[in-house]
Amino acid sequence: MTGIALMATLVSASAAVPAIPRDNKLEKKVEETLARMTLEEKIGQMTELAIDLICHRGPDGKLVYHPGMLDSIISKYKVGSILNAPQHSLTPEEWNEVIGKIQEVSMREIGIPCIYGLDQNHGVTYSTGGTLFPQNISLAATFNRELAKESASITAYETKASACPWTYSPTVDLVRVASWPRVWENFGEDPYLSGEMGAAQVRGFQGDNPNKIGKNNIATSVKHYMAYSVPFSGKDRTPAYVSEADLREKHFEPYKKCIEAGALTVMVNSASVNGIPTHINKRLLTDWLKDELQWDGMIVTDWSDINNLYSREKVARNKKEAIKMAINAGIDMAMEPYQWDYCTLLKELVEEGEVSMERIDDATRRVLRLKYRLGLFENPVPQLKDYPEFGSAKNAEAARRAAVESMILLKNDGDILPLKKGTKILVTGPNANSMRSLNGGWTITWQGKLSPEELAEKNTIYEALANTFGSENVSYVPGVTYNENGGYNDENAPDFEPVAEAAKNADVIVVCVGENSYTETPGNLSDLNLSANQKELVRIAAATGKPIVMILNEGRARVISDIEPLAAAIVDILLPGSEGGDALAMLMAGEENFSGRLPYTYPRDVNSLSTYDYKASEQVGTMAGAYDYNASITNQWPFGYGLSYTTFEYGNLRTSKDKFVDGDVISVSVDVTNTGNVAGKETVMLYSTDLVASRIVPDNRRLRAFEKIELAPGQTRTVTFKLPASELAYVGHDGKWILEEGDFRLTAGKLSKVISCTQTKEYASPNK
Ligand code: BGC
Repeated sequence: MTGIALMATLVSASAAVPAIPRDNKLEKKVEETLARMTLEEKIGQMTELAIDLICHRGPDGKLVYHPGMLDSIISKYKVGSILNAPQHSLTPEEWNEVIGKIQEVSMREIGIPCIYGLDQNHGVTYSTGGTLFPQNISLAATFNRELAKESASITAYETKASACPWTYSPTVDLVRVASWPRVWENFGEDPYLSGEMGAAQVRGFQGDNPNKIGKNNIATSVKHYMAYSVPFSGKDRTPAYVSEADLREKHFEPYKKCIEAGALTVMVNSASVNGIPTHINKRLLTDWLKDELQWDGMIVTDWSDINNLYSREKVARNKKEAIKMAINAGIDMAMEPYQWDYCTLLKELVEEGEVSMERIDDATRRVLRLKYRLGLFENPVPQLKDYPEFGSAKNAEAARRAAVESMILLKNDGDILPLKKGTKILVTGPNANSMRSLNGGWTITWQGKLSPEELAEKNTIYEALANTFGSENVSYVPGVTYNENGGYNDENAPDFEPVAEAAKNADVIVVCVGENSYTETPGNLSDLNLSANQKELVRIAAATGKPIVMILNEGRARVISDIEPLAAAIVDILLPGSEGGDALAMLMAGEENFSGRLPYTYPRDVNSLSTYDYKASEQVGTMAGAYDYNASITNQWPFGYGLSYTTFEYGNLRTSKDKFVDGDVISVSVDVTNTGNVAGKETVMLYSTDLVASRIVPDNRRLRAFEKIELAPGQTRTVTFKLPASELAYVGHDGKWILEEGDFRLTAGKLSKVISCTQTKEYASPNK
């Protein structure tokens, strides 16, 4: 870097506005508390242990506390954070009891409240009787920021009712490897969509003032920073190899947006990126997050990930070396989660001068600041009586609305949907009568394995269809079933015969296929094809000659190209949560209209995977001359695809400028008309294509803006996007942002228009 360039970077970094505005009064309290703390107490604040050390649920269903444990953990080791549920969700009353006991000892022994954390990942995962929303992949499919925000704010309320102030959500990793078992926990493959939905959730969880989290709000932990989602092997927690340009321009983007929305904490990627375990990557943790964004929030490890530095990643010889590497890289709190020798070893490292007192103070400040921002010192345990709406019908209704907007109509030959009242329906398939598969992982338990009575009052697809179309018209024969006691992909021996038999009395067969619930490593997958049994079920159903409606209920896109032609209609319901059965029935009956759009590219072939923003060079025609080189991209359905019961027409795409430079804001307008007979919602998406980019092969196209609108039949609305010119910049191979002189094609629907940048701008700051 030249002297001048270096100066420019420093100036712009120091001039950056802090991501969260500084609150001087709060900072004073932090400093006063820090000043009276011993080294042991500071290290305790940097430690997080699991609830299983403190209590478990006994055979009679009561919580059993482990004698002396709270004293060891808090009185002796001064531990400042506890996480997780004891294997299974607790009622809000039980949470109030458990967290109440922890806070009582914390306040008495160290005068600093504990911060409790839970994975309330799609609603209140771990609070029995609470509201369960669609998973994030489904929220992404709604393309509706308001629904993402509302789901988070209700989840915050119900989490607070459970006395817990902190969630490990939202998850904003870009899902660009189709087989990764955590695809569904995120908002799809696109950085803009993920950033918008993630930021909306941060605002929903935390409210508008990150310095003063309100009574009904909680702190977020945006995760898993970053590029966790693109393991080369497709398996969870395995290495990713990502270009410098993609890291900055795509994977970092949603994190940046969430931090700018006020996110108070970040959780780190368990795996390595370009050979460096993220937990020791000072550049990503300290330089990018804390320094460049001027972010004073707190970084927590993922589960046992300091230990994994020596036991799995082999970058440290022992635990002490691992702790030194992680803390010096910028980790503030270790999710240990079962051993407290971390406290002793970190103290030794400080005494030996291997970890500086400044680093310890910085980390402790960040933890204390979080606790002050949450108001935990004044009110360590919220009162359940103040949260009468926990698990209310109103909250369930919000979850149903979100589920309706999340379901994607992928095919509807001959307008077979909506089904008419009185239609005789055979419902079949392993996902037809399962609350477990509607919800996915992180539902009451980690893997979402439900016992039959859990969520029994909610309707499965079969139950909801029977309610809507009349039980006399709807029959259920599974044909294929999951082995609920085995791995998520274990199936019992199929029983096809009764399906063919029952089909004789049906007008239509609704085949519900997909996946059972899973998350993380237990959800690893080696073949993206839908299971052989389930494909066979579709073939058997089709052989009856009755029309097939295929329902896909899956956490990631399973390949179905060979059976797709057998279905007249296909609906991808992803993981819609507890209200998903009812939402689907309403859509299939035409009481609601489909408006979900695919948040990822749906693959056609297992060895031909891509994302919508593939490189221009991946799709080119035949070359002239002796060798007919060409390249083509295939997919089953593209990113953003989804049908409706109505049709929309786009007209008059126009821009406020045809020529622009950095600093300009371009207004892009398009008129959208509902040309069908029923009301419908349309997501208007604006894409850009950089026709020539000299520093890197340009992306095919990029989503730059979207807006979801509702139109009555015949109604036209104008949608106007304000597009800052800098949004059209890209990151070159040198890791720097550049907006290049040249032509850009803007596209909305089938319309497009070319506008031109007349002056190249190279940005000095790493964030433009
Ligand atoms: C997961 C995280 C989760 C953490 C705490 C880890 O195994 O990767 O997503 O937040 O556990 O439960």
